Amino acid sequence: MKNIIAKVPISKIVNLDTLLVPIKNNEDDLQIIVTNYKKKIYAYLNSCPHDTRPLCKDAEYLWTKKKQLQCMHHQAVFNPQDGRCIKGPCEGDYLLRINTIQKNGELIFYKEGF
Ligand code: FES
Repeated sequence: MKNIIAKVPISKIVNLDTLLVPIKNNEDDLQIIVTNYKKKIYAYLNSCPHDTRPLCKDAEYLWTKKKQLQCMHHQAVFNPQDGRCIKGPCEGDYLLRINTIQKNGELIFYKEGF
């Protein structure tokens, strides 16, 4: 059984490279980082594996010049395609991947255990 945690119209991400999507019904204001990287959608929990702080509060500052994701706190750098930290204090750790499906013009995010 899929536990749906958020939905957005697909049209919202088509022309952007990043979108922050709030997760519904959570007291910690958790968000999903949605990236449209090389025309493929990737979604991760906006929580750095270094110490669980959000990678960013504004998606505008998330990307490095080399098109990698960077945490605003201690500059850990992540591969946008698999969420692996490739440089920084949590090197080798991964962002938590959020599963997505597309249905009826919506991008639906789901995760077991939320
Ligand atoms: S909290 Fe992200 S690198 Fe330290």
